[in-house]
Amino acid sequence: MSAGSTTPVGTVAGVAGEVAAKAGVGVGASVPGRAAGGAGAVAAAAAAAVASGVAAGAAASGLGARRGGTAAPERPPRPAQPVAEVAQEWGALQAQVAACEACGLCAKRRQAVFGAGAVQAPRWLVVGEAPGEQDDRHGEPFQGRAGMLLQAMLRATGVVPNQPVYYTNIVKCRPVGNRTPRPEEIQACLPYLRRQIALLAPAGIVALGRVAAQALLDTEADFESLRGQVHRVRKEDGGEVPLVVTYHPALLLSRPQHKAGAWRDLNLLRAVVA
Ligand code: URA
Ligand code: SF4
Repeated sequence: MSAGSTTPVGTVAGVAGEVAAKAGVGVGASVPGRAAGGAGAVAAAAAAAVASGVAAGAAASGLGARRGGTAAPERPPRPAQPVAEVAQEWGALQAQVAACEACGLCAKRRQAVFGAGAVQAPRWLVVGEAPGEQDDRHGEPFQGRAGMLLQAMLRATGVVPNQPVYYTNIVKCRPVGNRTPRPEEIQACLPYLRRQIALLAPAGIVALGRVAAQALLDTEADFESLRGQVHRVRKEDGGEVPLVVTYHPALLLSRPQHKAGAWRDLNLLRAVVA
């Protein structure tokens, strides 16, 4: 994919309810560029059978035996645990995520949403919370109204269309009803994002909303206290990437009075990244 291809292609259907349900943190709406992990990747990944968190397999449950073994046994609740081995290369990582069963979110997803946008040395990495209903359907993050607002914010700061951006989330699978991902789901999924950061080597990271900010900065600090400053995130190779925290665009849809603050946050990072 070419760097900087960030044309919104959002198709929106019924996202409004989703936005409302999510109460300010994460729902989708427009799209950035071409997916790096679309539906095709899912099939490919399944075929590739990359080892992920699949170890605690269904065989462990014993349910099948109790039921006489003919009907497919229900999947037992799966304790979330971070994957032991995270793929080193982009394609393999994408395949691993597509086949991942490291946390319970795998049970209800249509597909994992790996991310989308510029994979060749993006200047910006934008990290949301979790895929929404439309994202889960299309295999790309930020489909829908919140994503459209995100694009508008990035345009207002001149990032889009001038600089390459990659978009992803803290967890790659959609929580049903767009509930906030649980701490154990976040911990299970974070190694993928950490590897994405290492491989993409963005010049700066934007954390959208409390969940993304706290997960990336490994803190429970109050959301507002994390805004207004440039943080540093340590990469796997020991280097650091500047990060700013700002409002999730889904929150800005219901509280537009925070738009000016979001604009300031993005400019803070732009001053460091540009
Ligand atoms: N869609 C995403 O991909 N992430 C969010 O945080 C919200 C909607
Ligand atoms: Fe795996 Fe992350 Fe999906 Fe959980 S949310 S199943 S850890 S890819």
